[in-house]
Amino acid sequence: ILFAQPHNFRYASQTGQSEEHIRTFITENTEIVGEQSLTPEIQLRLLTPACRFWREKPDLWPFQDPYWAIYWPGGQALSRYLLDHPEVCRGKTVLDLGSGCGASAIAAKLSGAAHVVANDIDSVAAVATHLNCELNGLEPIFSVTDNLIGSEPESFDLILLGDMFYDEALATSLHGWLDRCIEIHGTRVLIGDPGRAQFESHVIRQLLHQQAHFELPESVREENYGLTCSSVWSYRSEV
Ligand SMILES: C[S@@+](CC[C@H](N)C(=O)[O-])C[C@H]1O[C@@H](n2cnc3c(N)ncnc32)[C@H](O)[C@@H]1O
Repeated sequence: ILFAQPHNFRYASQTGQSEEHIRTFITENTEIVGEQSLTPEIQLRLLTPACRFWREKPDLWPFQDPYWAIYWPGGQALSRYLLDHPEVCRGKTVLDLGSGCGASAIAAKLSGAAHVVANDIDSVAAVATHLNCELNGLEPIFSVTDNLIGSEPESFDLILLGDMFYDEALATSLHGWLDRCIEIHGTRVLIGDPGRAQFESHVIRQLLHQQAHFELPESVREENYGLTCSSVWSYRSEV
């Protein structure tokens, strides 16, 4: 179904505000950054110390918590891996689940994926992803804001999960759904994670195979309370 959508948005705004208004808000309240991440070739609009809301009272922020305004270490490792190994995505249909700023979806597109879907339950993240596509000279990536976890799996070749194992309940529901995706469609699953406690202690961790390991740049370490590295894992379920 996702491949057959006529527009580049399946967009259910939870904010009650127009896409245009959200675009303007993001543009005015983020900074364009690139150099400081593991993927300096991708530019992103992110919340930085130069932005008003870095110091502003959190309750003045008009939307949900802005996960999309941070480029998470798990997503950075995953995106670096895709850019270093374009054969992983070339010609493939790819789902970036929990896409946030859209960096891993962008990396998949830049690596030659045939079709990419960016999925995040935060509709503001979908608008941020489109702005970030423009920054990187790409057509808007098809964005979906439904919660796909638990839904009937679609026939993706590859599912990307950047820093999605930060909550045990989310990790467990993801685990069950990934097994169905693999069982029904033989989908390949790649996970980027900086070694968070919820990831390391989850049962899925024992079923993963390390594909790549990256030292995080100094500025990313400083923003992430002592995390020093981030890895990419592939999941081969036992189903
Ligand atoms: C820690 S951020 C990671 C963002 C991005 N992958 C990265 O690595 O930079 C987690 C993201 O997952 C999204 N999210 C949480 N639950 C989700 C769900 N059930 N389906 C899709 N996205 C979800 C959040 O809105 C958030 O943007």
